[in-house]
Amino acid sequence: MQAAILEAFGTPLTVGTIPDPVIGTGEVIVDVEATRVLSYTNEVLSGARNYLLDLPVMPGVGAIGRVRATGPDATRLSVGDWVYCDPTIRSRDDVLAPDITLLGWSARGEGGLRLQRYYRDGSFAERMRLPTENVIPIGPIDAADAPAWCAMGTLLVPYGGWLAAGLQPGETVLVSGATGQFGSAAVVVALGMGAGCVVAPGRNQAVLAELQRRFGPRVRTVRLQGDEDGDRARMQAAAPGPIDCVLDLLPPSADTIPVRAAAMTVRQNGRVVLMGGVGMLGGPGLDLPYPWLMRNNIRLIGQWMYPREASVCMAALIRSGLIRLSEYEVTTFGLDAVEAAVTHAAAHGGPFRMTVLQPRPRG
Ligand SMILES: NC(=O)c1ccc[n+]([C@@H]2O[C@H](COP(=O)([O-])OP(=O)(O)OC[C@H]3O[C@@H](n4cnc5c(N)ncnc54)[C@H](OP(=O)(O)O)[C@@H]3O)[C@@H](O)[C@H]2O)c1
Repeated sequence: MQAAILEAFGTPLTVGTIPDPVIGTGEVIVDVEATRVLSYTNEVLSGARNYLLDLPVMPGVGAIGRVRATGPDATRLSVGDWVYCDPTIRSRDDVLAPDITLLGWSARGEGGLRLQRYYRDGSFAERMRLPTENVIPIGPIDAADAPAWCAMGTLLVPYGGWLAAGLQPGETVLVSGATGQFGSAAVVVALGMGAGCVVAPGRNQAVLAELQRRFGPRVRTVRLQGDEDGDRARMQAAAPGPIDCVLDLLPPSADTIPVRAAAMTVRQNGRVVLMGGVGMLGGPGLDLPYPWLMRNNIRLIGQWMYPREASVCMAALIRSGLIRLSEYEVTTFGLDAVEAAVTHAAAHGGPFRMTVLQPRPRG
């Protein structure tokens, strides 16, 4: 099969022919029809993000595809089924604290790297091998819609955060980083889950206006000005009442001050979920006052990715129309143009835009 291979950090991807993946028990082979190229793929491939990735590797995180072969223990999946390939691989030999690797992307710690030595290759390839539990049917779709369905991978990240927070219909939530790629997805998902109001802070006035235009009065935008106390007051004032839950999705380039400004808008007994990349490249810790956490019964939650069942529910949210894939403008590339796709993704990040690779030859 054809695949894009990263031989060393900072070198271009090489497209070439490599042996097909070989299926084992408990595994599925998927024909990759479409896969997202995240805006910071260049930073992962250059090594700038310091993601743990054992090389050489076929990168690429998550995909929409069709089942090509199932192992002997698969009882429901059929060849040809349209599926979402969840890159979140969890080791099966520790149910309480599994090692985790993101297929073709990164790993957490030495245990995650060990897992990655077996489950290593991602989606920038015609086919990929995954554990059966990571292959989630999405129901029949038109092949032309496969690139749009890649938005699942983006939407699922904040969905994992809202699930961790136990978001309830009618609640008022705040998304820190609402003008970003994952943050804007957090706005979409919160609205789809029935949030009464989403407070959307940011610095980019054009994107704030776009959020307002798309989603109307259930979204309240706030222009951040960089002073912690003032920004916190502005965010609280924008909400129609107490803020029940805050989800942070700021990137590693942001420091902890805007995180804290947003986190401390939450009401007594509220929940704060941290999902961003803040601190992944070092810097000071998040200095949340102990008495504020304690006296206000704040629940502080860290969340990496999302639970297995989230993919099933997200497919249902999309099929029901509660979440619309049409929010996203998609630009597609073939595998031969993978380097151009990575460059395009870096230049066209942010909300409601997706760069998608289609690794198989188009008929
Ligand atoms: N936990 C997980 O499972 C998971 C999964 C995937 C990704 N992530 C993390 O999510 C992060 C966000 O990715 P993304 O692609 O959405 O990033 P992005 O599109 O670059 O968005 C960045 C956002 O951060 C805001 N921002 C940046 N610096 C800021 C500052 N100093 N003060 C206030 N706001 C600031 C930007 O606001 P303005 O543009 O308005 O200035 C924008 O809203 C990634 O870096 C990754 O680490 C986490």
